[in-house]
Amino acid sequence: MNPNMLIDTAKLLVSGDKGLLAMDESVPTCNLRFAALGIPQTEAARQTYRELIVDTPGLGEFISGFILYDETIRQRRKDGTPLVKLITDAGIIPGIKVDTGAKDLASYPREKITEGLDGLRGRLAEYVGMGARFAKWRAVIAVDHCLPSRGCIEANAHALARYASLCQEAGLVPIVEPEVIMDGGHTLERCAEVSEEVLRCVFDQLYVQKVLLEGLILKPNMALPGLACPAQATVEEVADATVKCLLRAVPAAVSGIVFLSGGQAAELATAHLNAMHARFKSSLPWPVSFSFARALQQPALNIWLGNPSNASEAQQALYHRAKCNQAARRGQYDAKMEEVARG
Ligand code: 13P
Repeated sequence: MNPNMLIDTAKLLVSGDKGLLAMDESVPTCNLRFAALGIPQTEAARQTYRELIVDTPGLGEFISGFILYDETIRQRRKDGTPLVKLITDAGIIPGIKVDTGAKDLASYPREKITEGLDGLRGRLAEYVGMGARFAKWRAVIAVDHCLPSRGCIEANAHALARYASLCQEAGLVPIVEPEVIMDGGHTLERCAEVSEEVLRCVFDQLYVQKVLLEGLILKPNMALPGLACPAQATVEEVADATVKCLLRAVPAAVSGIVFLSGGQAAELATAHLNAMHARFKSSLPWPVSFSFARALQQPALNIWLGNPSNASEAQQALYHRAKCNQAARRGQYDAKMEEVARG
């Protein structure tokens, strides 16, 4: 492990008021998103779509890194150029999702454990050889009045810490993603309480596994009411609950925090990030940014629909969302930016 290299990469990923673009949907997840819009679920369509993202002019102004999936990191453009080369030529850092998905957790009905530790050291070495400089692992925590169990939290936190330690050994910055999911009728307060407990456990395990906090990035959920909760929260309430939770549970040594969007509408996710900066900028000990998949991509995907003649308009939509999120990172996002874009 070279600590300085890890720290430099981690800092670069959150510098310049930029954020990450997660385009690491597994084949089944990408196919689900395509199927919902009538886009063919083929490798060729997935490649064309990912090339559209990578080729979006100017995205590097707002995006520091792309999180790729195994299929994508191996793909080449028709002229033979590896996608990874196109990414690095655009000044963007390539990263790779390395977990193999959330599976049922034995003895804990309705709860998941993320797998992928077996053989991970070898897979990380291969990805480093392909040019990856950071990695991602997502744990999934479900909430209701009695979930999550301590067994689920501890198993996932332990796996995240083992993954993070292996990443740092390989010279990759680990993005540590414990996601408390939005499904269910739980309140904002319940989400914040569970998120805090999960983060405390994750940082305990990272400490036990000797993970260098300055060389990692945390990718948490925002504190949000469940999708089916009758009491939805204001933008300010979400910002306050999220920042309070993070200040309590995340050590200041961590290089950066980048949120997942978790199924929030794109503009709302941007507004939440903006409110955190507008209200708390001077009291945040870490850079706080975004690492969205759906909240960056979905508007573009809705326009593209697999039709080449829509590609340029889809790229403009992606560029616009990335720009809005950078503005949010500065606390300078205004809903008027959306009206201007809509014309
Ligand atoms: P969403 O922003 O769509 O939640 O995805 C982020 C991610 O990387 C999921 O692992």
